[in-house]
Amino acid sequence: MYLSSAIGALGLVAPVVLAAPSPPLVEKRACTFDSLTNPTCWDGTFDLNTNYYDSWPSVGGHQEYTFHITNITMAPDGINRTVLAINGQVPGPTIFANWGDTVAVTVINELEDAGTSIHFHGVRQKDTNTQDGAVSITQCPIPGGKTSMTYKWTATQYGTSWYHGHYGLQAWDGLFGPIVIAGPASSAYKNDLGTLMLSDWTHKTAEYLESDAAVNGGENIDNGLINGTNIFIDPTTNIQTGKRFEFVFQPNESHRIRLINTAMDQHFKVALDGHEMEVIAADFVPIKPFKTKILNIGIGQRYDVIITADQTPGNFWLRANVQTNCGQRAATFTDIRAIVRYNSPGVNGTADPPEATPPAFDVDCTDMPMANLEPFVAINLNITGNLTFDQTITFNQDFNNPNPVINWEIKDGIHFLSHWENPTLLQLAGPGNVTFPDEQQVLEVNGVDKMQFVLIQTDSGGDHPIHLHGHDFWIVDQSNTTKFDPSTFVPNTINPPRRDVALLNGSGHLVIAFKADNPGAWLLHCHIAWHVNRGMALTFLENRADIFKPGDSDAVGKNCDAWKAFAKDKGIIQTDTGV
Ligand SMILES: *[C@@H]1O[C@H](CO)[C@@H](O)[C@H](O)[C@H]1NC(C)=O
Ligand SMILES: *[C@@H]1O[C@H](CO)[C@@H](O)[C@H](O)[C@H]1NC(C)=O
Ligand SMILES: *[C@@H]1O[C@H](CO)[C@@H](O)[C@H](O)[C@H]1NC(C)=O
Ligand SMILES: *[C@@H]1O[C@H](CO)[C@@H](O)[C@H](O)[C@H]1NC(C)=O
Ligand SMILES: *[C@@H]1O[C@H](CO)[C@@H](O)[C@H](O)[C@H]1NC(C)=O
Ligand SMILES: *[C@@H]1O[C@H](CO)[C@@H](O)[C@H](O)[C@H]1NC(C)=O
Ligand SMILES: *[C@@H]1O[C@H](CO)[C@@H](O)[C@H](O)[C@H]1NC(C)=O
Ligand SMILES: *[C@@H]1O[C@H](CO)[C@@H](O)[C@H](O)[C@H]1NC(C)=O
Ligand SMILES: *[C@@H]1O[C@H](CO)[C@@H](O)[C@H](O)[C@H]1NC(C)=O
Ligand SMILES: *[C@@H]1O[C@H](CO)[C@@H](O)[C@H](O)[C@H]1NC(C)=O
Repeated sequence: MYLSSAIGALGLVAPVVLAAPSPPLVEKRACTFDSLTNPTCWDGTFDLNTNYYDSWPSVGGHQEYTFHITNITMAPDGINRTVLAINGQVPGPTIFANWGDTVAVTVINELEDAGTSIHFHGVRQKDTNTQDGAVSITQCPIPGGKTSMTYKWTATQYGTSWYHGHYGLQAWDGLFGPIVIAGPASSAYKNDLGTLMLSDWTHKTAEYLESDAAVNGGENIDNGLINGTNIFIDPTTNIQTGKRFEFVFQPNESHRIRLINTAMDQHFKVALDGHEMEVIAADFVPIKPFKTKILNIGIGQRYDVIITADQTPGNFWLRANVQTNCGQRAATFTDIRAIVRYNSPGVNGTADPPEATPPAFDVDCTDMPMANLEPFVAINLNITGNLTFDQTITFNQDFNNPNPVINWEIKDGIHFLSHWENPTLLQLAGPGNVTFPDEQQVLEVNGVDKMQFVLIQTDSGGDHPIHLHGHDFWIVDQSNTTKFDPSTFVPNTINPPRRDVALLNGSGHLVIAFKADNPGAWLLHCHIAWHVNRGMALTFLENRADIFKPGDSDAVGKNCDAWKAFAKDKGIIQTDTGV
């Protein structure tokens, strides 16, 4: 569990510096972190100005967690269904760490007849590709029957993220939870209220819906949840079940809230009636603060916001409205709200907030504008001459083969497919210079620190939150309404936004860049459950010769042997595309 030297979830105390390293280029500042009076400081050596891609604290902090994964019945909105829980919870427990800590998460798969894995979304996994948790890519699934695997990584970044299953659709059957890495902040706040997870929810399991979604390209959802709960009103019986999530504001004080979109198919617009939000981080990247009343949050994205309780004390609705232009299937119940109550005498602690006029929620399908997302640690892109793309990726849907399942491809007629029992890293561990079959969609990236410029587009409509493992990427260009046109293309080179998920609207385009400074097999995929499940994914194989450290490939092989024995014993057959 959480060590005493660590900073509490709501903590204000910096860790004791045991043996401060003396890395070059880091400005010394004689102050320690205090969220209200010294938010940009950290430990006197590292602070908000530190380029966290190059250096991070290393004071020996270590956090350990054990996750028991079970299949149980729960009713997040009052309707019973089967969920996959971690230590009996949905969402799972929060992983807390301090910037620079090492984190070890032991995952015990207590499922009878399924594998599992945990991916730590957005965590860079610097030089620890084998700990990324992507089945068919970095590992075989963890076998069931109480088999365990321990993931170990270093928190080189700080801020807010989440972890989730990366085997089949388990992430959307409840296998997810928050990550909070304490570190400096780009604006001051009094209280850290922790994470607020925004989800969509179905009353049948995603596992059950999978085969239908494979034909339909998606599924209707039943409800949305905020921090794992919401009410539900049955449309036929009108019976209300479940409850709203509620939390408390201290009047006149400022509150940090860490928003996370964990949905299978919905992009949200978030607003708190009557209040403005100051946004201080996008994914794991601290940004120059900006204010907004409405925040667009795409699937897999996170925003850290500060809200000051500056209104007349009362109760207020926090709304997570669906962006209805994103081409998703309909939702049965769209009233996704939580309640914020001021801790003031005279405020009725059980009453619903008044139905204040909600802010204008446009039908839309968009990220926050690029101009808002200016990273605090500014890094320009150095492009000389005309930019040529290292990769041009066009994702296409193939409706015909095998009929009627919809598959995704990046090469005509070749659908993405990768196998649980033969992940990319296992192939790489074998003898010789392995070549990969086209269906694995492995794109080779060679050259240490070489910049990769990647144009991503799709011929099909709808939205695609594009997520890259192992890196933050720069957003070089993004449009939600226009296709890529080389004659009008002007790359954004001056401190472009950096993050790990950005929206590719089917009507638009996305250009990203990343630096090949982290050897590994890294997935790039659409974060919509149904799309990744049918193979809207590819792998960047980055500097393959540098991936394995001693022992790494043995560990991959051992888990694969155990998986193969388990899968054979239980007769498990892979029905999806492997990711
Ligand atoms: C969970 O339990 C249900 C009901 O027994 C079963 O249908 C389902 O396959 C199980 N899922 C997993 C992943 O074990
Ligand atoms: C929901 O499940 C619980 C435990 O399995 C059971 O006690 C309860 O009766 C169920 N509720 C409904 C409405 O089916
Ligand atoms: C949401 O739930 C998490 C996990 O229980 C908790 O840490 C967090 O404080 C909750 N969020 C708010 C705003 O209360
Ligand atoms: C909050 O600020 C308002 C305006 O400055 C003041 O009237 C009120 O007394 C303050 N409330 C508390 C609880 O400090
Ligand atoms: C608080 O609100 C509840 C629900 O609307 C209501 O039943 C109750 O009478 C209210 N209490 C006060 C003191 O106004
Ligand atoms: C995004 O795409 C949808 C349809 O795919 C379109 O209706 C919409 O106008 C696009 N852009 C925005 C900003 O919503
Ligand atoms: C998407 O389109 C809307 C409406 O045209 C615009 O306000 C928004 O800035 C666009 N977002 C991006 C990321 O281009
Ligand atoms: C671009 O050049 C500047 C100045 O040399 C350097 O600080 C920066 O890291 C470079 N950008 C990238 C993406 O390498
Ligand atoms: C860059 O592109 C423009 C427009 O296509 C072209 O006129 C120009 O010659 C190119 N410059 C170089 C150095 O290739
Ligand atoms: C191994 O194969 C890859 C792709 O097939 C190629 O790019 C690379 O140059 C080869 N490496 C060696 C050492 O032959």
